[in-house]
Amino acid sequence: MKIIYGADYNPEQWSKEIWLEDMKYMKEAHVNMVNLNIFGWAILEPEEGHYDFKMLDELMDLLYKNNIDVDLATATAAQPAWLSMKYDDVLPKDQSLNTIWHGSRQSYCPNSPNYRRRAIALVRKIGERYKTHPALKMWHINNEYSDHTHICYCDNCARSFRLWLESKYTLEEINERWGTSFWSQKYYHFSEIIPPRQTSADHNPGLVLDYKRFMSDSILELYLMENEILKALTPDIPISTNFMGNDNKPLDYYKWSNSIDIISWDSYPDITKTESPMNNALTHDLMRSLKQSGHILMEQAPNQVNWRKRNPNKRPGEMNTYSMQGIAHGCLGIMFFQWRQSLKGAEKFHSGMIPHNGVETRTFKEVCSLGKQLENMTPIEYKAKVAIYMDYDCWWALEYEPGPSIDMKYMDSIRSYYSYFFHHNIPVDFVFENSNLDNYDYVLAPNMYMIKESFSQTVHKYVKNGGQFILGPFSGIVDESDSVFKEGYLSTIKDLMGISVVGYDVLTHSNSISYKELTCIKWCDEIKLFTADSIADYQSDYYKETPAVTINQYGHGKSFYIGTCFNEEEMNKLLSSIITIKGIESPYNVEVITQGDHVMILNHTNIDQMFELCFFHNRSNITIKAHQTILLKK
Ligand code: GLA
Ligand code: ZN
Repeated sequence: MKIIYGADYNPEQWSKEIWLEDMKYMKEAHVNMVNLNIFGWAILEPEEGHYDFKMLDELMDLLYKNNIDVDLATATAAQPAWLSMKYDDVLPKDQSLNTIWHGSRQSYCPNSPNYRRRAIALVRKIGERYKTHPALKMWHINNEYSDHTHICYCDNCARSFRLWLESKYTLEEINERWGTSFWSQKYYHFSEIIPPRQTSADHNPGLVLDYKRFMSDSILELYLMENEILKALTPDIPISTNFMGNDNKPLDYYKWSNSIDIISWDSYPDITKTESPMNNALTHDLMRSLKQSGHILMEQAPNQVNWRKRNPNKRPGEMNTYSMQGIAHGCLGIMFFQWRQSLKGAEKFHSGMIPHNGVETRTFKEVCSLGKQLENMTPIEYKAKVAIYMDYDCWWALEYEPGPSIDMKYMDSIRSYYSYFFHHNIPVDFVFENSNLDNYDYVLAPNMYMIKESFSQTVHKYVKNGGQFILGPFSGIVDESDSVFKEGYLSTIKDLMGISVVGYDVLTHSNSISYKELTCIKWCDEIKLFTADSIADYQSDYYKETPAVTINQYGHGKSFYIGTCFNEEEMNKLLSSIITIKGIESPYNVEVITQGDHVMILNHTNIDQMFELCFFHNRSNITIKAHQTILLKK
């Protein structure tokens, strides 16, 4: 299976002579697929119901003639100005019901009947027109859903929210779930329920959580509406939509992943930050795990981006190491935004595979050599013995404010555990509420604030059969409606953990634990042992000498509870006392990935590095230049 290589191709910006040049240079760069028509709506439909496919027809034919596959986009990510002006339900509204105007992109309300109606018509036209076109190899629905408009508070959304609620709960259940007897919030009729608009003080957390679920579902409905049309027309063409990084919170990607054929995502690491290589690896692992199959790196910048405050260039080799990181973590394809750098418009300072200064540039040369390198490779099947549990509902509920501490951030907790494995070169998968855990030696849940009943059962079974479960602080607090468990924290997993958590303290300074005098920060759970033993106690404050880290034998397995937080170095020390899988030593941010008989060494640092690589029975001295990639076979 060949590796997909290419970019978003936005030729609408260029003359036909340039298209011909593009074909020549795409060959030189070894491009084999492009994402076409992502923002094509205004050109395809100049007025309602009148279509003009001339340009797209020509481009499809041209690409086909040149042996370049097309991942054809449905163009619904930015509606034409006429649509926004003609129907007043199209533009979204903010919390104070101010209009979010057109003039940029993705400025539509997800529940707008007119947006939906015209998007359906457009997608059907595109689907019918190109369903048998030989260049068509994949569908690209919309673009980065929720990137710019992830929430809307308009009257259409309010109406749809009520219907969404009605399809799930009775009014009585809603009052019960949200605890509306407090602050006189009881609802006597569905029509009284409104989105969490601008109000006098804090919103009801249950309503906020359900509104987040509803918005993710509303946007998912948009995807499904297009998906259904395309599946009926072209059942054999795979469908994708490009997700964003691990910090994209508005969409429940796990729920979405069921109806996506190939997961893809857009990677824009902040190259000025030392944690970016780790964070980027984490997202690859998360994306691959959503469907437990290969995913596509759908966009990355060939060089600098334009949307941070300061946008340095990727260093020589850096684009290659990030691309190879994708391959090493299971990617089926490596693509860029965008093929040719724009001369006009909002993204003219964002790099392209062909920069403003043409093909005699470092960027284009690096792009060509990567293309050549990928042509001789095939995708890697990625396997891991460690899994981290991820749940979007939990993330949404945890970060409602005001809460006990603004420092308890879901993805930060996940990163702090993931980082141990990254820096020890131990492969990681992510697991979700319905995943099978049987093949893992360790399952970690860094901040499982919400317990989902199905996962609680799965993890009981997993540990009983010999698995090892590691649970982080501020866990087991609420049920799926965000109500605190009346039977106490940890609820159904108390027996599994062998402890009860009787309270917690929020740290504004630090404390320490008796294991290696490690400094702990942010949070201290107050723990009572029940069948578990203490591994480490707190060393100061009123809970001095009470357990901070515990271990419990349960069935054939073990459960660990870590009731506090650590910085990276201290976390490293603690986890290395718990995890017995042997990693591979390498200098900081030199990543070594071993999968099957592949060994990939990626130097993510700005300096040359030398180290002794030891794995299995092999030992060799490695010298690797700054941002160099070394590929070996075992
Ligand atoms: C996103 C979008 C692209 C482009 C890039 C720029 O990923 O999907 O259209 O704007 O950002 O980084
Ligand atoms: Zn709306």
